Amino acid sequence: MSIDKDKDYGTPASASTELVNLEIDGFKVTVPAGTSVMRAAASIGIDIPKLCATDSIEPFGSCRLCVVQIEGGRGLPASCTTPVFEGMKAVTQNQKLADVRRGVMELYISDHPLDCLTCAANGDCELQDMAGAVGLREVRYKPVTTHLGAEKDTSNPYFTFDPSKCIVCSRCVRACEETQGTFALTIDGRGFDSKVSPGQNEDFLSSECVSCGACVQACPTATLMENNIIENGQPEHAIVTTCAYCGVGCSFRAEMKGEQVIRMVPDKNGQANHGHSCVKGRFAFGYATHKDRITKPMIRASIQDAWKEVSWEEAIAYAASEMKRIQAKYGKDSVGGLTSSRCTNEEAYLVQKLIRAGFGNNNVDTCARVCHSPTGYGLKQTLGESSGTQNFDSIMKADVIVVMGVNPTDGHPVFGSMMKKRLREGAKLIVIDPREIDLVKTPHVQADYHLKLRPSTNVAIVNALAHVIVSENLVDEEFVKARCDVASFNKWRTFVADIRHAPEATEEITGVPAADIRAAARLYATGGNAAFHYGLGVTEHSQGSTTVIGIANLAMATGNIGRDGVGVNPLRGQNNVQGSCDMGSFPHELPGYRHVADPATHDLFEKTWGAELSTNPGLRIPNMFDAALDGTFMGLYCEGEDIAQSDPDITHVHAALQKMECVIVQDIFLNETAKFAHVFLPGASFLEKTGTFTNAERRISPVRKVMRPLAGYADWEITQLLSNALGYPMNYSDASEIMDEIASLIPSFSGVSYAKIDELGSVQWPCNDETPDGTPVMHTKEFLRDDGKGLFMLTEYVPTIEKVTPMFPLILTTGRILAHYNVGAQTRRTENTAWHSEDILEIHSHDAQDRGINDGDAVSIKSRVGETVLNAIVTDRVQPGVVYTTFHFPESGANVITTDNSDWATNCPEYKVTAVQITKVTKSSEWQDGYRTFTDTQLDLLAQAANV
Ligand code: SF4
Ligand code: SF4
Ligand code: SF4
Ligand code: FES
Repeated sequence: MSIDKDKDYGTPASASTELVNLEIDGFKVTVPAGTSVMRAAASIGIDIPKLCATDSIEPFGSCRLCVVQIEGGRGLPASCTTPVFEGMKAVTQNQKLADVRRGVMELYISDHPLDCLTCAANGDCELQDMAGAVGLREVRYKPVTTHLGAEKDTSNPYFTFDPSKCIVCSRCVRACEETQGTFALTIDGRGFDSKVSPGQNEDFLSSECVSCGACVQACPTATLMENNIIENGQPEHAIVTTCAYCGVGCSFRAEMKGEQVIRMVPDKNGQANHGHSCVKGRFAFGYATHKDRITKPMIRASIQDAWKEVSWEEAIAYAASEMKRIQAKYGKDSVGGLTSSRCTNEEAYLVQKLIRAGFGNNNVDTCARVCHSPTGYGLKQTLGESSGTQNFDSIMKADVIVVMGVNPTDGHPVFGSMMKKRLREGAKLIVIDPREIDLVKTPHVQADYHLKLRPSTNVAIVNALAHVIVSENLVDEEFVKARCDVASFNKWRTFVADIRHAPEATEEITGVPAADIRAAARLYATGGNAAFHYGLGVTEHSQGSTTVIGIANLAMATGNIGRDGVGVNPLRGQNNVQGSCDMGSFPHELPGYRHVADPATHDLFEKTWGAELSTNPGLRIPNMFDAALDGTFMGLYCEGEDIAQSDPDITHVHAALQKMECVIVQDIFLNETAKFAHVFLPGASFLEKTGTFTNAERRISPVRKVMRPLAGYADWEITQLLSNALGYPMNYSDASEIMDEIASLIPSFSGVSYAKIDELGSVQWPCNDETPDGTPVMHTKEFLRDDGKGLFMLTEYVPTIEKVTPMFPLILTTGRILAHYNVGAQTRRTENTAWHSEDILEIHSHDAQDRGINDGDAVSIKSRVGETVLNAIVTDRVQPGVVYTTFHFPESGANVITTDNSDWATNCPEYKVTAVQITKVTKSSEWQDGYRTFTDTQLDLLAQAANV
């Protein structure tokens, strides 16, 4: 039976492998055991009327519209809640059934406003469809007023709740529970009086609701409706594309009217998200057409000058001539560029190609430098490949989930919901985090162990876990012997067995009770399939790479790698951070993670690109800043990255940018970096171009143009124009040609093409002759190192030099919040500010009391490099001695305080550990005052652009 992927089959598919034969309306059908009669019927094209059932949630059986007759059975059972059995004979349509259904519909309609013609859902309303399907022609009952006239809740900025149209089918309640896992909605009252409620005396905005949109999607009527539909009417066509926010990479149907996006609906066929979404991808797309978009190229000689709008030809010619002038004056290596993890694979590939072949050096880097570069290093060394090992679906087979230094419900919300679902099914949870993230305690989920460690002690914790595994004989000896480099394992075993790594010995360092570490280690090693998920709380440390190595060691030692339900999984932050790394965005590696000095690689690329390539690794981002201050790095091409906000110690970054003679920014807004720029090339949002993104599970998904670029060009086209002007020719007429070139150069991409992606929906690399449909789980037979064996490496704990002192007695650590995305350039330009309009400092009640700080007080946060001022919130989510904030608003200056300490292997900044002092103040910091003046000046110079 072929499956129509867009059809609603009424109930979820059964995973059973056992098959059952039955007859429906005389037609024979074979379906997996556990399938509902409704789904079995739908699979042969018999669509039984339904209202409370939809195939994204479990059936509930409340509306009774879907009744059927079963031969030999009693009564009229609901087909959505009745499973098939061998030999069943079901009838879905006869007079009796028709009468029952009409009666049900009459009752619903008697309590429903009959305003179909002016209703926002007109044309997309299941109640309307079902009235037609059951042939309802009249309503014999007097109108009831239980719901009619009920007041609308318009508190949510993106959707409206109009209870007058509610049929109390509870699809919304179940979607919130099952799909999202928030349990924000309930049905209050009984019978006719029952009503959907987002909490007692609460509206949607002030309730627990996280605005994921699952309820809106599930609602069969106009009760829960997107405001955009209410304002603009129903869309007329749809194009499937991929969310441009986080590394989950959710698939969406962009529903359009002409070139206007009316709504983004999560695609039920999306292989990363299976029809779910979060507030960002679902609703926060308005930035793409925000009035702040810059759509004309601009140039200026100095950052004190007004911007001048110019033609594309003039802007590109000016940018190219400046880069050439700088190279002529300061040498070939005096310029470089940054690829973007927000742009497509094809665009990242072209930028690094331009730098290597057009500039003639390897001065290319990307924002992964400041987030997951330790993942690249640590996993490559130990496992042989620098990416996560699993697909997201693998979590549904995990028995134990370890979450370390990552906050999935805020940072990777759709995967966070999937995790919660598995946890509600009974998987165990170990959280390793200094802060009480939501997963520690959320409806029906409670962490089995929360190892609330002190920031900067990750390596000590990982070593302590390893010590328990080794000393309590919990090693999977067979796995190690068969799959790993045994000599390295033996060395590691001796190393971690040392008593100095025992939980009792490290308790004082980590602050975590030894008994908890022992119990967590036992659970990880013996609890069945154990999956390790981690994030920037692991990598953004002076020992970020060491911790990643330590995690890989743990997975190998316990055999928790190489199959479903296990693995080592970095949760990538940005939509295409995996892709930008794959595409050769690091200064020492060509595309496919091959060293620039490797002779075979070097020859291959020189031949294919027709250019002389340097074999010297280029500058990393922090080295570029240092070189700028030394006067040896004077020109930067920065595509889609806001280093002036996102990088640590930004006073230093600003000074470096000011020193450069030509900064070219290619972006959609005048971001913080653009305020230091001399050339502004207006880029395109993800809605305006074609390409691919690669998510955290190595999934290459399509990005499809749904509207023309506001400034005229996709970003890859702008890079191509610049390259041609620099004298290195590029002649791609379509993004697919770039992917074809990538596939010809990177062995793990050799099977990737747009045709393949269109056919499969998405594909996970490696995708080549051996695995033509991609690779959901890696290292299943052997590791990707040359000898096929996993390598254990020693992980000595070295305390960070960033220490608390009497002057700076607290540790500041940072993270993200659900409503906003990284530097906030996009989400700050959406209604998401309704949830979070400023960065707040979280401080423990003891530390707050010591300093006389109350909720809402302005507090100074001072480190050895800088000072800023935020409002405080007193909370026990953080432990005493630790303060926490987000970094989504430039004026907060979170990175004025962070230092230039970095990971020993990769230079990834130690964002997560800064010694600070907190004091109550009444005014903003000197830096903030300077920032405001500078910003006002730059906005003024921008306003003059069109008039110059
Ligand atoms: S709001 Fe919609 S989904 Fe929820 S009970 Fe009412 S009609 Fe059903
Ligand atoms: S938007 Fe999401 S979180 Fe909010 S009530 Fe609906 S399903 Fe629940
Ligand atoms: S989870 Fe990530 S990819 Fe999915 S909708 Fe949200 S921001 Fe977009
Ligand atoms: S659809 Fe089956 S009872 Fe409502």
